[in-house]
Amino acid sequence: MQSGRLTGLCDELEVAAVSNDNRVLIFDTTLRDGEQSPGASMNLEEKLRIAKVLEELKVDVIEAGFPIASNGDFEAVGAVARAIKDSAVCGLARAARADIDRAWEALEPAARPRIHTFLSTSPLHMKYKLQMEPEQVHQAVADSVAYARNLCDDVEWSPEDGTRTEHDFLCRCVETAIKAGARTINIPDTVGYTVPDEFAALIRMLFERVPNIDKAVISVHCHNDLGLAVANSLAAVKAGARQVECTINGLGERAGNAAMEEVVMALKTRSDAMPYTTGVATEHIMKASHLVSTITGFPVQPNKAIVGANAFAHESGIHQDGVLKHAGTYEIITPESVGLNRSILVMGKHSGRHAFKSKLKELGYELGDNAIQEAFRRFKDLADKKKEVFDEDIIALVDDQVVRANDRIRFVSLGLVCGSKAPPEADLELEIDGELRSTKATGDGPVDSTFNAIKKLFPHDAKLQLFQVHAVTEGTDAQAEVTVRLEEGGKTVNGQGADTDTMVAAARAYVHALNKLLVKREKSAPAALRA
Ligand code: KIV
Ligand code: ZN
Repeated sequence: MQSGRLTGLCDELEVAAVSNDNRVLIFDTTLRDGEQSPGASMNLEEKLRIAKVLEELKVDVIEAGFPIASNGDFEAVGAVARAIKDSAVCGLARAARADIDRAWEALEPAARPRIHTFLSTSPLHMKYKLQMEPEQVHQAVADSVAYARNLCDDVEWSPEDGTRTEHDFLCRCVETAIKAGARTINIPDTVGYTVPDEFAALIRMLFERVPNIDKAVISVHCHNDLGLAVANSLAAVKAGARQVECTINGLGERAGNAAMEEVVMALKTRSDAMPYTTGVATEHIMKASHLVSTITGFPVQPNKAIVGANAFAHESGIHQDGVLKHAGTYEIITPESVGLNRSILVMGKHSGRHAFKSKLKELGYELGDNAIQEAFRRFKDLADKKKEVFDEDIIALVDDQVVRANDRIRFVSLGLVCGSKAPPEADLELEIDGELRSTKATGDGPVDSTFNAIKKLFPHDAKLQLFQVHAVTEGTDAQAEVTVRLEEGGKTVNGQGADTDTMVAAARAYVHALNKLLVKREKSAPAALRA
């Protein structure tokens, strides 16, 4: 176990500046592993917006990207490194000097930079992916960590596919990485294969067998292929791990990573069973969840724990009656503790600019004067169409506006002929690189006609993979939130759009996805490292 060890590290290791042994560091990798989800991609401004919310959440470490992956990633990690003051900012690097140099170049301006370097250690990965012998891998661990440590005081090392690595070899590599200067050792369950008891035993085994283990913080990084990422992370904490790597909404490769909001709220709610604390300001959780969903175009499932639309909804009469008598009957977490405030200000078409500004503040938005002006104009349009404007409407509207601030292609207007009397036709206006363009197109229905019109104005080969509509609130006047997934050359992106008119929301979502595709075209995944 890690007892009595973190206090000894405090002077040297600022990021682990914790005064008790039960403090669990939260390492958020939404901007790196989260962005590796098929369909999710973020540009520099989007990463910066999320990083600032992560800082408000007071996460200990923000993994901002993989600087060698593309110039865009390099610039984004650099921008996050310059902007963030409270959380440590981390960049990922393979066990190669060029990767580590590039990561350091991006991270150097950070108040608290961290280099995270990794190398596969499982027999399967070493043989087929790396085509390296174990001895070569072991040497590369020593060399890469020492090289990174020469540049940066705070180095984290991960044995990729750690849970499928032979124990003797894992212990040797961990000991070597610590000797070479790694201050955090992260054990990834890369393919989401382990189960809680087994993972806890692995962490305990490392504490028992690695002689210098007390010189590093032990971290875990769990994927969710079997739906066990959060359970595995919590089991590891009980076994002595003191850093958990996770993402907002559980975003991440394949089935995703451990969801940050679930790990944090489980530790907070069940402190009787798990006496550990995090530094997370949980009242910002809903805002972070919504922002990540809007930016990536990944909707949050309604029954998702903590942040789903139904997480605090009570449908059955018996439950409603119970909650009215005492919230604790069916609510184990207060909505307020995750930032779901019962609104004080109710908005409608008579609300003025001042009330609107106060509402934005209440919802946690700090916008410049121009952005407020534009948001107010869109709010007035919406209030004309809808009797009551709920917080969810304003959140959808502002996110839609701010997220699209730097897009090359912008939706301007849409007119439609549809129904059973005349052939469907879309009359569309877009602004492309600042120039207003318009066209008309027909199709098999209003959606097809609208998307054909977009293709006419901005020709591309991407294929539509998903078209999904859901209502932001209740009632026939509710805003529709549409998600569109496009695929081009093996790369997928999701776009989202919201409007009271479902077809306008669809056009906005398609244009959003197209803008993301333009960002994604510049990015390519780095190949597996070979010696
Ligand atoms: O899942 C994984 O193994 C990773 C490593 C780079 C830590 O993301
Ligand atoms: Zn991962």
